[in-house]
Amino acid sequence: MTLAPPLSAHLAEAHAPWIDLRSDTVTLPTEAMLQRLAQAELGDDGLDGDPTVRQLERAVADLLGHEAGLYTPTATMANLLAVLSQAPRGSRVVLEAGSHMLLSEGGGALLAGVEYQGVAGQGGAMATEALQAALALPGAAACGLVGLENSHLNSGGQVLSAQVLQAAQGCAHRHGARLHLDGARLMNAAVALQVPVAELARQADTVSLCLSKGLSAPAGAVLVGPAETLAVARRHRKVLGGTQRQIGLLAATGLEAIHSQPARLARDHDLAGRLARALRQQLPPALGVTEPVTNIVFIDLPQAGPQSLAWAEAALQHGVRVRPWGPWRLRLVTHRHIDEAAVDRAVEALQCVADALAG
Ligand SMILES: Cc1ncc(COP(=O)(O)O)c(C=O)c1O
Repeated sequence: MTLAPPLSAHLAEAHAPWIDLRSDTVTLPTEAMLQRLAQAELGDDGLDGDPTVRQLERAVADLLGHEAGLYTPTATMANLLAVLSQAPRGSRVVLEAGSHMLLSEGGGALLAGVEYQGVAGQGGAMATEALQAALALPGAAACGLVGLENSHLNSGGQVLSAQVLQAAQGCAHRHGARLHLDGARLMNAAVALQVPVAELARQADTVSLCLSKGLSAPAGAVLVGPAETLAVARRHRKVLGGTQRQIGLLAATGLEAIHSQPARLARDHDLAGRLARALRQQLPPALGVTEPVTNIVFIDLPQAGPQSLAWAEAALQHGVRVRPWGPWRLRLVTHRHIDEAAVDRAVEALQCVADALAG
């Protein structure tokens, strides 16, 4: 096959001009992923199965300590399938209020015919009393599912320990509900906590793991959980148009991702730490820089000055891409294409922007 070398060369070139800190979703597939893609054994995943997809589903289920796995095009679809397969129509789904499932995927409630209810949390964790109160809310629809996120994007990549997850699952079960974990960045959480990822994943009934964020595969996620639940999710995936045919091509990149990338994530976390420290030293004190636990740093901007979009546009002029996160916040995420030199250049660039905009 001649696909891999020219494609990867082309992708690397496309990436070169920027220091792109907007998200870990910008990561390109590795050379090894492209080689594995070119050699993947394929079948019809909507007919009698694609062998590489089956291998990936098994591998992720084993890695996370669950019975079965289901490959999905996106983490959003994996989360929606968790709802569709576990929360009966007319029931409530209680989600941590800052979660991606509530804030960015909330339309899923319309498709599932359920109500999403947000419960305020801290660093992604809901206080047990607050969760209990929501689950036992008088006059409200029964709760079918509780959702948490680990690592938690909107708190700057903070992590939930196995104990926190276990307490939430116990609470959900006592009220007849299940716990779903949006583990789009669960590998980051496991690396930060220095625990096997299964120790976290086993505390939830279903877990979605995204392959295309820090793990660098071009697309795809896997939902894991009980075989019976995933059989229902598999039927829903077809209805949503998420059943693909010779998709072992992409599943092969996922297999390579779970094999080669988790060990690398600690470096992303170290670089986020280096970035935060340098920003704190170099930027005016009126700018707040969060302390990263994983690979996400926020810069809080003074509300008297220009908004985040103006900062992002100015940074772009210096070859650095950062993401506006609301009007007064910038998001910076480290990933495989960021190294020490890129961090240092980004800090220099943001210092120039601060001199121009906040000076
Ligand atoms: C925490 C979290 N969950 C789910 C998703 C959805 O992932 P996707 O865009 O691949 O569907 C994202 C995307 O950024 C995310 O950050």
